[in-house]
Amino acid sequence: MNTFDVYKLWPIEPVRAKGCRVWDKDGVEYLDFYGGHAVISVGHSNPKYNGKLINQLEKLSFYSNSVLNSLQQELAQRLGRVSGYEDYSLFLSNSGAEANENALKLASFHTGKSKVLAFRGAFHGRTSGAVAVTDIPKIMSPFNSFHKVEFLQLNDIEGVKRELSTGEYAAVIVEGIQGVAGIYAPEISFLKMLSQETKREGVVLILDEVQSGYGRTGKFFAHQHSGIKADIITTAKGMGNGFPIGGTIISPMFEAVQGMMGTTFGGNHLACAAAIAVLEIIENEGLVESSALKGAYLKRGLKRVLDNHPDGVISEIRGEGLMIGVEMSANYIAVRDNLLFDQRVFTGGAKSNIIRLLPPLTVTMEELDLFLFRFEKAINKIKESH
Ligand SMILES: Cc1ncc(COP(=O)(O)O)c(C=O)c1O
Repeated sequence: MNTFDVYKLWPIEPVRAKGCRVWDKDGVEYLDFYGGHAVISVGHSNPKYNGKLINQLEKLSFYSNSVLNSLQQELAQRLGRVSGYEDYSLFLSNSGAEANENALKLASFHTGKSKVLAFRGAFHGRTSGAVAVTDIPKIMSPFNSFHKVEFLQLNDIEGVKRELSTGEYAAVIVEGIQGVAGIYAPEISFLKMLSQETKREGVVLILDEVQSGYGRTGKFFAHQHSGIKADIITTAKGMGNGFPIGGTIISPMFEAVQGMMGTTFGGNHLACAAAIAVLEIIENEGLVESSALKGAYLKRGLKRVLDNHPDGVISEIRGEGLMIGVEMSANYIAVRDNLLFDQRVFTGGAKSNIIRLLPPLTVTMEELDLFLFRFEKAINKIKESH
């Protein structure tokens, strides 16, 4: 049997990692400014994280959701405290798509309606409902296409008012910062209005923080830059630092009915141990606050690189904290490949010309400097080749 060939693969095989560094099977060291797609929050092979997982593994790795599991309560309480959503409840699953699927179902159960408003450029996952509210037609099969979904441009508040006034909507779903689209943050004024309008119309506001959450942007959740509260918040990626876990964080206005949601693996003992370890490290090391500081430092450095190349190498720098998009002009698309193959730096991409920077939150100031040095070197290499 072969693996089903759906991924575009880099010809690199990491076998070991520590902090913000990764080594391939030939011993070549890479700087990790991708974090395995924003997943590595507290650093690769974090000793406290590893210790907690090993300890749990030796006690009990899994039992189903038909027995008491106090690790779930511990995780929920800690997450409530760290995120400022103390009076909300937590439903645990295994991925971002599942977290969103459950959020959409819950909104539909609650309102008795089925239509959802989503935004251009959105990515919410690949399960049936999550992919239907994702704005990438090529990953939507005919089977997924029966959902009632309307897409608007991000920040189009007049469109939101118009749509919600029809009374047909169960939910609006929006990313804290759009990641896959190329790092586009909703305007603060838009989120404030969106919160007001959804409340007024009795529509559930779902904030997808799967990529932008867990301290990455300098607040625990990216939407907290705008001061709003969502009705449901979804999390995954950084939540388990690589251990699969997803969370749907649910306002007290929703009533839990036994059997309305469920999962075999979600909230298992190992996943909870991983997620508790992540939160302990985030709290003890002040990683939310430090993401803001490190992100501001990185952005200043990128701005210097932009200024050093007034011939228009970089067209825009966007994002918050350690979730940054650098849009390269058309002649400099090759910078990302140069970073990988010459400068040995992993980065994320979006479209063909956006470099996404999503390093572990534990990245050091020296590593930020090293990245900036290698980034400028990659630009100069591409310049020489023109
Ligand atoms: C904002 C957002 N939501 C949901 C998902 C889906 O998460 P998963 O791949 O864990 O299902 C992603 C994945 O990239 C994402 O970026």
